[in-house]
Amino acid sequence: MRGGREHAWKRAALLLAAGAAAAGGCAWAVQGKLTTAWYEVPLPAGLEGLDGVKIAQISDVHSADLERPLGAALAAAAPDLIVMTGDLVNREDRELSRALSLARMAAETAPAFFAPGNHEGDNPCWPELRDRLEEAGVQVLEDRAVLWSLRGEGVNLMGLWDVTHDPLGWAHAQAALPERVRALRREGALNVLLSHRPSLLEEYGAGGADVVFCGHAHGGQVRLPLAGPVFAPDEGLFPKHTAGVYQAGETRMVVSRGLGNGTPYPRLWNGPELVVVTMKRAGT
Ligand SMILES: [Fe+2]
Repeated sequence: MRGGREHAWKRAALLLAAGAAAAGGCAWAVQGKLTTAWYEVPLPAGLEGLDGVKIAQISDVHSADLERPLGAALAAAAPDLIVMTGDLVNREDRELSRALSLARMAAETAPAFFAPGNHEGDNPCWPELRDRLEEAGVQVLEDRAVLWSLRGEGVNLMGLWDVTHDPLGWAHAQAALPERVRALRREGALNVLLSHRPSLLEEYGAGGADVVFCGHAHGGQVRLPLAGPVFAPDEGLFPKHTAGVYQAGETRMVVSRGLGNGTPYPRLWNGPELVVVTMKRAGT
C-alpha cells in the first residue's frame, strides 16, 4: 500500500515537472519581450562628420500594441533619426488610431521617415494613412527623397513604393529597381534607402545606396535554435536575408526582424526587435 502511494507521488511529480518544462519551453519559444539590436555600419569617405549618428528602425508593427515598450526602447537609444520600413498596419485594418499613435510617438522622439510595405499597398485605407502619418509628423517617402541636414552633412532619405505594386509585374520591377534608386540618389550625401523587401540586395547595391533598411521577412517567422530562420516571403524555406547587416559592393543592407506579426502563425524564438544602427567613420 505504501509502495503504491509512493509510486503515485512520483508519477505526479514527474507529470508536474514535464508540465513545467513544456510551459517553460513555450514561454522560451514565444519570447514576447522587445529587445534592441545594435549594429555598426561604416560611413562612406567624406562624411566623417556623421560619425556616431544613430538611426533607429521600426518595421512590421502590424498594428501591434507596442507603443509603450517601443517608446522606452527609443528613449534609451536616443536616435538622431528614425526610419520606418513598412507594414505599420495589416492589409485588412480599417482602424488606424493605434498605429498612428505609435507613429506620433516616434516623430516626437526624432525626425521620422516612412516607406510603405506590401500591407499598406494592399490596404485601401493607404491614402488616408499616408495623410495622417504626415499630420503626425512622419515624412512619407513614396518614391521620393528628402535631404536632411545633420551635423553639417547631408543625409538623403529615399523611400520606395513596394515592388509588388508595379503594374508590369515583379520581373519588371526588379529590373527597374537600380534606376529608381539612382534617380533618388544625391551625390555627396549619405544615401539612406527605406525599402520593405530584403530579397533585392543586389539591385539596391547597383542603385548606389549607402545603407538600406528593410523588414518584411519577420526574421524567418520561426528561428529554430541552431538551424536558424525557417521561412520568409520571396525567399522561401531557410531564407538568407532575415536579420542583421548584409553587403553588396559598398552597400550595406540592414534587415529588421520586425515588431509584430501579419500572419496567423506564431513567431517562435523570434521576439520583437527595435534596430539601432550607429554610423561609424572608417578605421574606428
Ligand atoms: Fe510584415
